[in-house]
Amino acid sequence: MAGLLHPGLVILSGAGLSAESGVPTFRGVHGLWEGHRIEDVATPEAFQRQPDLVHRFYNLRRAALKSVVPNAAHDALVRLEQGWPGPFLHITQNVDDLNERAGAKKLLHMHGQLRQVRCLWCRCVLEWNTDLEVSTPCPECGRTGRLRPDIVWFGEMPYYIDEITRALQTASVFVCIGSSGVVYPAAGLVRLAAESGCARRIEVNLEPADVSGRFTELRQGPATREVPQLVEELLADLSR
Ligand code: OAD
Repeated sequence: MAGLLHPGLVILSGAGLSAESGVPTFRGVHGLWEGHRIEDVATPEAFQRQPDLVHRFYNLRRAALKSVVPNAAHDALVRLEQGWPGPFLHITQNVDDLNERAGAKKLLHMHGQLRQVRCLWCRCVLEWNTDLEVSTPCPECGRTGRLRPDIVWFGEMPYYIDEITRALQTASVFVCIGSSGVVYPAAGLVRLAAESGCARRIEVNLEPADVSGRFTELRQGPATREVPQLVEELLADLSR
């Protein structure tokens, strides 16, 4: 019950949180991968049409996780999670595992995870750390061809929408870190926060993103500088 006396805090993170760890953002300089628009490799239709291409895209990203480590912003968010006395939720659009590796526990992956696969035959969800091919049999049901990355693709419904909506309805502080704000419904969460009465809505980004008109504060700069500073301020405010 004690938690209810303290303000709720919701974090929404995007690719900018992991950028300084060396994980490429989606809408970087070219916004393309091997000449394909991201939107063209991250859809159920692309997986039906060219499963090898889609597997290759995610195999490369999964393999790349082995050579990156959490940065100072991931670490600071864990300090915030551990020090925040009220309800806390970190919603990430990122499919990497850097938040978990930093120690995050109150974390929801609304766009899925690179290190998980899902079988469209038997619906099992499994941890996965190697390459995935069209010919890879599902370890649960043994069938081939429909084992896919457990990633939410364009046109699919993100995970945990009910939990996310509930957390935002009671939050007093909303912090969005490193997201371009062009992919819905994630981009609409700041609006939901505002409409639910969340008074403090902070954006951390290298530049103001599309939906930043709905934020009450902008912390402009790299996440590894801005997030640790913001976390210290939020924790210090508690003792005032
Ligand atoms: P984007 O690549 O669209 O945007 C990254 C944002 O991070 C931009 O606004 C950059 O300005 C900012 N940024 C980059 N480096 C930063 C740094 N060091 N510090 C702070 N900010 C920085 O990534 P997302 O908004 O996360 O969906 O993309 C949303 C979704 O689009 C992804 O989850 C993915 C993609 O398609 C799925 O896979 C379903």
